[in-house]
Amino acid sequence: MMTEVFRLRNLEQAIEQAAKDELSKYEASSQCFFNYLEQLSKDSFNRKQFQIYRDNFFFRTSSTTRSIFRVFLAAALNADYTTFCSMRENLFDELGRGNPEKRHLTLLEKSYNFHGEKVFGLPRISVQEVEQSPLICEEARYFREIQKSLYCHKYYQVVLGCSFAQEAVANHMLESFYKTLFLPYKFLYNEDFEQVSEYFLTHITGLEKNHAEKAKQAIFKACSNEHALQLVVEGISRFLNAQAVLWKGILREMIKAQSEDDFVSVFLY
Ligand SMILES: [Fe+2]
Ligand SMILES: [Fe+2]
Repeated sequence: MMTEVFRLRNLEQAIEQAAKDELSKYEASSQCFFNYLEQLSKDSFNRKQFQIYRDNFFFRTSSTTRSIFRVFLAAALNADYTTFCSMRENLFDELGRGNPEKRHLTLLEKSYNFHGEKVFGLPRISVQEVEQSPLICEEARYFREIQKSLYCHKYYQVVLGCSFAQEAVANHMLESFYKTLFLPYKFLYNEDFEQVSEYFLTHITGLEKNHAEKAKQAIFKACSNEHALQLVVEGISRFLNAQAVLWKGILREMIKAQSEDDFVSVFLY
């Protein structure tokens, strides 16, 4: 019995380490994108750059609700009722906890469209309409394909690895976007900045960290041997790789657009 406890504890440590390694690799390969945003946030973005970022981020994020539902379903099919309950809670968060106005995709559209219109003079677009946007880069389509294949994977541990990866990097991603693309333009707003920040504040004030912790617990529970561990790592690594590739694609398009439009300075002259 004690040997079994030690074996499982070692396995948990191995999962922690593998997750840490994969997250470091992701951090290193996506740093160029986040650094670029940081650099521009000290000066200015142009309209085309914000549009490229917005359309690709909408495209990337539009399947989040479906993805959470797939984990929820996979937990049910695997009779994993602890994870089933935590994913039910996650889904409930995503759907606005019963208030359609607070559904996360609704908050996303509201925030980005309000900001895009006010700061950059961009026409509004919905998450559905973005499917037809000519600005969607091939890396965004690749990301969605990989994401779907992982969330629909026949092995439950791959699904859980992917879910953990998505949750684990969400907080940093949203904090960075809020800080670089939105907050520097706060001076253009009166009290209506709340409409922009609600989407971000809903996520970065503990919600994503909580989702990531629950997703990690789900992995621990579903991992009882080396093979399961390898499947988890496959889910984590393939998701993070696809997301890092996506950031590089958006970065390339934003750099290309540098000379194509007027910049909106973050300073009040
Ligand atoms: Fe969300
Ligand atoms: Fe989440």
